[in-house]
Amino acid sequence: MPTKHFLSDKVSHFTESVIREMTRQAMLHGAVNLAQGFPDFSAPAEIKKAAQEAVAADVNQYAITWGAKSLRNAIARQMGIWQGITVDPEKEITVCCGSTEAMISTLLAVCNAGDEVVIFEPFYENYGPDSVLSGAKPKFVKLRPPKDDVGEWTFDEKELRRAFDKHTKAIILNTPNNPTGKVFTRTELELIRDLCVEFDVLAITDEIYEHILYDGTEHVSMVSLDGMRDRTVTINGMSKTYSVTGWRVGWAVAPEKITNAIRKVHDFLTVGAPAPLQEAGAAALSLPEAYYMKLAEGYRVRRDHLMPALTMAGFKCFRPRGAYYVMTDISGFGATDDVSFARTLVSTVGVAAVPGSSFYHEPSAGRERVRFHFARRRETLEAAVERLGRIKAGALSA
Ligand SMILES: Cc1ncc(COP(=O)(O)O)c(C=O)c1O
Repeated sequence: MPTKHFLSDKVSHFTESVIREMTRQAMLHGAVNLAQGFPDFSAPAEIKKAAQEAVAADVNQYAITWGAKSLRNAIARQMGIWQGITVDPEKEITVCCGSTEAMISTLLAVCNAGDEVVIFEPFYENYGPDSVLSGAKPKFVKLRPPKDDVGEWTFDEKELRRAFDKHTKAIILNTPNNPTGKVFTRTELELIRDLCVEFDVLAITDEIYEHILYDGTEHVSMVSLDGMRDRTVTINGMSKTYSVTGWRVGWAVAPEKITNAIRKVHDFLTVGAPAPLQEAGAAALSLPEAYYMKLAEGYRVRRDHLMPALTMAGFKCFRPRGAYYVMTDISGFGATDDVSFARTLVSTVGVAAVPGSSFYHEPSAGRERVRFHFARRRETLEAAVERLGRIKAGALSA
């Protein structure tokens, strides 16, 4: 019998992803899965064709470690068009296996033991473990929910300032935001920018929902603000914009020195992202502007389909301005434990959602919340709406 327990202390603190548990529960109960955020509809035909052509043309071997030239050129071109900044595709872009790998490669490239990383919460669940894996200590700043369904999530300026000190290495920012649907305003970003400059801090921004915006909201990229070009890592990817979460193609755009470090970590972690799918990425980034309008409008229709059904069923919804999630308040059900609420919802109503506590470092902060996603075909959402309609008829108390 071995006498050592063999496991890393870092990993012993990680819990299993509740999001993936909910996906398993959804399969078990034949439920509509509105938990894990991936689309159940087709990706654009043009990009599937580009992927097929790349495989047929024998693009089968390792791409250049930091990314195929065609994709890096396309990313640089689009950053110029969308963010108005000039990026050198040879020196400032690293293509990774999804934005997930871009984030952990960045944190491993910039953090030392004892560094602190500021994270807004509720947060996308990878950021906490990512910071721990990179040796940094996460420091959380609360996003406060709006009072009514038309208000915005906000943060307290003084609380944010208190989170910055001489140990702060970076702030992780996700806009449009998962799970709240918040889109940070230019004024908020300028305030964060001022703190980054004052405390000499790096901004690491996850912008994978940048094209999924509602109600005339504008996406502002941190790197485009005065003073941020040299202290921002912009992370993005194909998963959400082109509905291909399984392709695993994402990227980090950063100043040359930081890119060199990210490239080294990326090389040792994964060598490279899938070569033929990077070629398809170059085709995706060449789609016309109309594609992005249609994408956002499609999600707007889905949001406006699901939200009234949730409200009717008794959930208080926080209206998202971007991304494809609705965060809800379940206190109207008298529920005090989000996890058992979500388990009952999946087993008795047949709709899977994510318990709010998975988005907070202190689970107690999310006990009255549950998140739904709406990256689903009309028929799937209709099935969810029909099932949610059973709640008022007593299904949830069964
Ligand atoms: C905020 C955020 N970042 C990153 C990811 C993962 O992106 P990728 O598929 O590019 O790794 C997700 C997926 O849900 C997400 O919501």
